[in-house]
Amino acid sequence: MLFKADALPYKFDALEPYFDAKTMEIHYEKHYKGYISKLNDAKAGTEIDELESMHAIWERYSTLPSDLQTKVNKFGGGYTNHYMFWMMLSPEENQKPSGKLKQSIDRDFGSYDAFKSEFSSKAAGLFGSGWAWLVWKDGKFTVQTTANQEFIGRDGVSSPYLALDVWEHAYYLKYQNKRPDYIEAFFNIINWNWISEMFEEYNK
Ligand SMILES: [Fe+2]
Repeated sequence: MLFKADALPYKFDALEPYFDAKTMEIHYEKHYKGYISKLNDAKAGTEIDELESMHAIWERYSTLPSDLQTKVNKFGGGYTNHYMFWMMLSPEENQKPSGKLKQSIDRDFGSYDAFKSEFSSKAAGLFGSGWAWLVWKDGKFTVQTTANQEFIGRDGVSSPYLALDVWEHAYYLKYQNKRPDYIEAFFNIINWNWISEMFEEYNK
């Protein structure tokens, strides 16, 4: 059972000027597909080889031998995180959370602007490579970060509703060392309409 890259729901240049086409192309073609290829190699012939989704693999994660866990964490995390990241971006600019999602963000952070400020500051302050997340756990939103390709939902109880890749490969061509500028740009192209719908669906 070989995993394949999911098609991007927009073109490489669709997120300009915030995310440039060249970065999107390299990120998708080389980094994202690279994780999938390494995951396929890592799971070949193991107990997870016939599982049909990353969801099924994450459910088995805690029972796997530690060397396989390490590989799933790196490459399965790389696959899962990037897929979520692609889906959480949209060429339709300047969307905002709505409905239950907006209410919960306002309740847990005070306001959207307060959430954005905390998320941006934690993403900018993450040392080295990793991800920043808006996470729903035990009926409450928090902002979390993970190192390298660790998937925040690996524990089975944390549900991510926003993912931001802060590896340099995600922004260096356009923003060089200015990670805060990349984070600010990101907030213009978040697919809040879809995220709001998803939150509503899972929290009926
Ligand atoms: Fe990445």
